Amino acid sequence: MIETEAWVLHQGDGSRQPGQLVLEQFSFSEPDDTEVLAEPLYGTWEGNMTHAMTRNPVDVCRLRMERRIVLGNAGVVRVVETGKNVTRCRPGDVCVVIPIGKPDSQGYPIEVYGYDNRGSVGLLAKRTKLREDQLIPLPRETRYSLLQWAGTSVRYATAWDNWRVTWACWRSQWTNGIAPTPHVWGWGGGVALAELLLAKRAGCRVAMIASNSERLRQISALGITPVDRREFLELSFDAARHGADIDYRTAYAAAEVAFLRKVRQLTDGQRVSIFIDNIGTPVLRATLKALARYGVLTTVGWEGGTDMQFRRPTECIGRHIHIFTHGSSYEGGDAAIADAEAAGEILPVGDDVYDWARIPQLAEDFAAGRIRGYFPIYKVNGA
Ligand SMILES: NC(=O)c1ccc[n+]([C@@H]2O[C@H](COP(=O)([O-])OP(=O)(O)OC[C@H]3O[C@@H](n4cnc5c(N)ncnc54)[C@H](OP(=O)(O)O)[C@@H]3O)[C@@H](O)[C@H]2O)c1
Repeated sequence: MIETEAWVLHQGDGSRQPGQLVLEQFSFSEPDDTEVLAEPLYGTWEGNMTHAMTRNPVDVCRLRMERRIVLGNAGVVRVVETGKNVTRCRPGDVCVVIPIGKPDSQGYPIEVYGYDNRGSVGLLAKRTKLREDQLIPLPRETRYSLLQWAGTSVRYATAWDNWRVTWACWRSQWTNGIAPTPHVWGWGGGVALAELLLAKRAGCRVAMIASNSERLRQISALGITPVDRREFLELSFDAARHGADIDYRTAYAAAEVAFLRKVRQLTDGQRVSIFIDNIGTPVLRATLKALARYGVLTTVGWEGGTDMQFRRPTECIGRHIHIFTHGSSYEGGDAAIADAEAAGEILPVGDDVYDWARIPQLAEDFAAGRIRGYFPIYKVNGA
């Protein structure tokens, strides 16, 4: 067995009480011939880690049928030892993690390493083991820092895979081959931001919605139009309250009007052609209203709620295409990393860097919306 120090999440008692990270010894079986023993260097805190801590929508420990788990699905690791059948990486290589826990027949993740994949030991541990198809060695002469790779690589790979499908769907609608230049907007965090960079590179007019000044500054610095969510903060749809609470309904209606006015203003009245929505339920109703005819609604996440309600005739007659994807395959991740390196377009990492001892503080700050930028980092073995 390998013994290591780790920040561990314990199974809940079924009451949906949020969990805590506890610093403990954790053990796992020796890597087999197809696996790698690795030292995590830097990780990035992601939405799914908060979903796991808050046991929302599920208690991931119960889902995995494990009493204690180690989270952490995105970051960079140093390879320590490789099994004798491993060919893609060698001891000493620094790799980004592509968190395919359990792949389907096309190589896409059904379960995510360091999240819902049973038996996986995530990056909140001083040592872990991974399969070689979960690791992409970084270019030796990379132009980016390890902190940048840790913060952005998985988000970029997820965005890259989703954008490939979204762009193909959008373009498929113009049989004469002449597609209009689309307006692409994004709700969400780092994944939406990465996808907007890809859209910009494809020649689209791009805008991102955010609610803090540092994020709005970063969006603008990347050449993306910033849209300040604080102008319509009450835009958070809740069907039950909408039916029962007149004050809520009035405030929501005013926020929706303000949002749609902003959309028309920034799109010359045309509305949005492609809306990247990784938030879900609270913004879906307004997002669909903001979507132009032939519009594409695309998503990889459900930060604010999982359920969708919409009127099928409105969507059909509006010729709206809905796209759902999640993580990338190994090949997609590999292509995305190569693309990020070649394009010189990896995303910035701000001041949100937490030492090993302060990881619980990072969990708290993320859940409370106190992270200033998009790519919060935690240090494991990195300097
Ligand atoms: N990271 C990945 O590779 C990956 C892969 C698949 C799926 N996902 C899922 O995709 C979702 C987004 O992940 P992410 O990493 O891009 O985001 P993130 O970095 O976690 O940021 C989410 C941001 O969304 C905004 N937001 C939250 N609630 C909102 C609401 N009710 N209305 C409008 N905006 C709201 C907030 O931005 P402001 O505070 O600036 O308004 C928040 O910081 C998560 O559910 C995640 O699990 C992520």
